[in-house]
Amino acid sequence: MLEIQHVSLTFGQGTINEKQALKNVSFTLKDGDFVTVIGSNGSGKSTLLNSISGVYEMDCGRIFLDDVDISFWPEYKRSRFVGRVFQDPLLGTAYAMTIEENLAMALMKGQQHGLQPGISSKESAYLKEQLSRLDLGLEDRMKDKVGLLSGGQRQALTLLMATLVMPKVLLLDEHTAALDPASARKVMELTREIVGKNQLTTLMVTHNMQQALSYGNRTIMMNEGGIILDLEGEERQNMTVEGLVELFNQKNQGEKLENDRMLLQL
Ligand SMILES: Nc1ncnc2c1ncn2[C@@H]1O[C@H](COP(=O)(O)OP(=O)(O)O)[C@@H](O)[C@H]1O
Ligand SMILES: [Mg+2]
Repeated sequence: MLEIQHVSLTFGQGTINEKQALKNVSFTLKDGDFVTVIGSNGSGKSTLLNSISGVYEMDCGRIFLDDVDISFWPEYKRSRFVGRVFQDPLLGTAYAMTIEENLAMALMKGQQHGLQPGISSKESAYLKEQLSRLDLGLEDRMKDKVGLLSGGQRQALTLLMATLVMPKVLLLDEHTAALDPASARKVMELTREIVGKNQLTTLMVTHNMQQALSYGNRTIMMNEGGIILDLEGEERQNMTVEGLVELFNQKNQGEKLENDRMLLQL
């Protein structure tokens, strides 16, 4: 269970560029919740995910993971429990290392000691088997450098790496936005499969309203650093993309209608 309590976060405090990116955000994810997150550009979605993974220090507030207060844990310590896939396919993997080495690193995340020289044949066989689950033929390219892979292949690999040692929470930040449509579909399929099979507690930011409603069991809408809508159950089941846009505009008194219509990709 992930509990976010009254989290605020300001960039450039005391400078001319001061920006409060999160304003008193609170919500709780139950185990197995798959929550989609939508909102216009700059509404604080990435900052929310980054504050959960410990990239930025919060002004105030608390974050609990399974009742443990991780608010002051450094990023590396949280990474054992928080899996992440970013928008940029270049960020999740090490391009100069082989597929196998990348996977081995992800596997070692769960262990106490640091990098071990070499990968045992048993480990190698296990990693190959895991890789074959992606159904991309990468299991025959274990010794290839990751830099040779396409964006879609890299994102699929990053997703596998993020879940090779099961995290307590998986954070996906527009992880298919930079991919061509076919690769995006494939990575979304894998996402549904991996999250579903493992009942992973997941937060997925998406620009696609249809995706926001068709994936997961709950949808959060952010605006100007706060959560302005939290939909689940029947209300969500009956929601349409048009209805979502309507709600968004209501909450914003129609101020940024055209702009936000575009940004929300209707
Ligand atoms: N590292 C940073 N330094 C300064 N300002 C930032 C930084 N990251 C984000 N911001 C600002 O915080 C606000 C929220 O950004 P972000 O969380 O990236 O929005 P979203 O992901 O919803 O598009 C924006 O105004 C953005 O410009
Ligand atoms: Mg973002």
